[in-house]
Amino acid sequence: MKKNDELIVDIIDNGMDGEGIAKVDGFTIFVPGAICGEKVKIGIVKVLKTHGFGRVIEIIESSKYRRENDCKTFPRCGGCDLRHVDYNYTLEMKEKRIENLFKKEKIDVTVKPCVGMDDPFFYRNKLQYPFGVNKDGKPVMGVFAKRSHNVIETKECMIQDKLCQKVAESVFEFIKNNNISVYSEENLKGFVRHCIVRIGKKSNEVMVTLVTNKGEFKETNKLVNELTTKFPEIKSIVRNINDKNTNVILGRENEVLFGSGYIKDNLLGFDFEISPMSFYQVNPIQTEKLYSKAIEYAELTGKESIFDLYCGIGTIGICASKGAKMLYGIETVPEAIEDAKKNAYLNNVENSEYFVGNVEDVLPKLVEERDIKADVCFIDPPRKGCETIVLETLLKVKPEKIVYVSCNPATLVRDVKVLLDEYEIKEVTPVDMFPYTSHVETVAVLKLKNI
Ligand SMILES: C[S@@+](CC[C@H](N)C(=O)[O-])C[C@H]1O[C@@H](n2cnc3c(N)ncnc32)[C@H](O)[C@@H]1O
Repeated sequence: MKKNDELIVDIIDNGMDGEGIAKVDGFTIFVPGAICGEKVKIGIVKVLKTHGFGRVIEIIESSKYRRENDCKTFPRCGGCDLRHVDYNYTLEMKEKRIENLFKKEKIDVTVKPCVGMDDPFFYRNKLQYPFGVNKDGKPVMGVFAKRSHNVIETKECMIQDKLCQKVAESVFEFIKNNNISVYSEENLKGFVRHCIVRIGKKSNEVMVTLVTNKGEFKETNKLVNELTTKFPEIKSIVRNINDKNTNVILGRENEVLFGSGYIKDNLLGFDFEISPMSFYQVNPIQTEKLYSKAIEYAELTGKESIFDLYCGIGTIGICASKGAKMLYGIETVPEAIEDAKKNAYLNNVENSEYFVGNVEDVLPKLVEERDIKADVCFIDPPRKGCETIVLETLLKVKPEKIVYVSCNPATLVRDVKVLLDEYEIKEVTPVDMFPYTSHVETVAVLKLKNI
């Protein structure tokens, strides 16, 4: 098999990124845009030692789950991978993927159906658009094309909040009308780098963060006046300065141009303040379902001490804290810990202590030096999962229940495997936090053996 060969293949499965999988004489070929059960004509794009990649030339037998694409930038954009698939079927695909990962490791667990959305459109509360320059040298703002840093101009995104999109559009018009230069990753010159717009879906409060290179921003007052006159929902405008040659969007320095520097939102009846550097789940409707399931799994009686590891602005622990004996939160971003402390205060959570630092450094120390214990531990790490020392410390502390919230089922399964030394895994519920993308969030409950 070589590049540009054309073949007819049966799609026998879908992979981690939603791509179709075909086998030709035992050799695996990944085919983006194809659905399990389809027969397709493909052109070979790349051949590696263990697998290859193909592109769909023609769909010969279409899946009954194939749907008309409703987005102008799909599939060029790196946001959604599954816009061509029936929504309910995407939920089945996600459930099956998690089931298979546990099965592969011979872990016997009940995987519940993936909890979906009634209306899986415009659900995101955070838009993050890079600025760039098109082929004609004109400024553009939108999303990065898949596996590249070419910016595709994005007018209407099917998963972004509509007000956030209008605000971003106005920021872009302002940048163009005032001839403000756009940062180029090639020569590291130019001023504006990213436009981030966040909304509290319940409060309807909007925060704009404009990420810029260093240097004077002369048009500050004009920008603030224009935006706040047009959008009374804007409660805060922040300039973030990033002068590094990096893929990381935000720099360390923030300058509040308007308002308080944060917005509020509410989850499950609790109020939260969110500042620009802090993580906040991007789909609040599903976040409430996710947290409710996590709290249900924790079976709290009000007497427990709780760990909230990787706590962000403290949301899971605070939502679970009603009458808890003690709540300990750990998080690496200092601004998020400041938010968490304020949020605990706002919600009258008195018995709480928050620690800034990496869980892998802070948790073992707290356990060793202060003999801190917990009955229930919530863990919600980033995609790379937990460092082994975190899991080993939990195996020593032995909370009765561990509720593991994960945005990457592969690292969830890896970490659960370690915890099975002392724990039994009872149940897993996938929650569709990112409809029409191949991402899936999962909440799992583990109970200490022999209690
Ligand atoms: C998936 S988010 C979860 C946040 C929060 N539990 C929530 O639901 O909003 C993961 C969080 O872990 C933080 N984080 C990443 N690596 C960390 C580490 N090694 N130690 C502590 N926190 C970390 C991130 O800043 C982020 O706030």
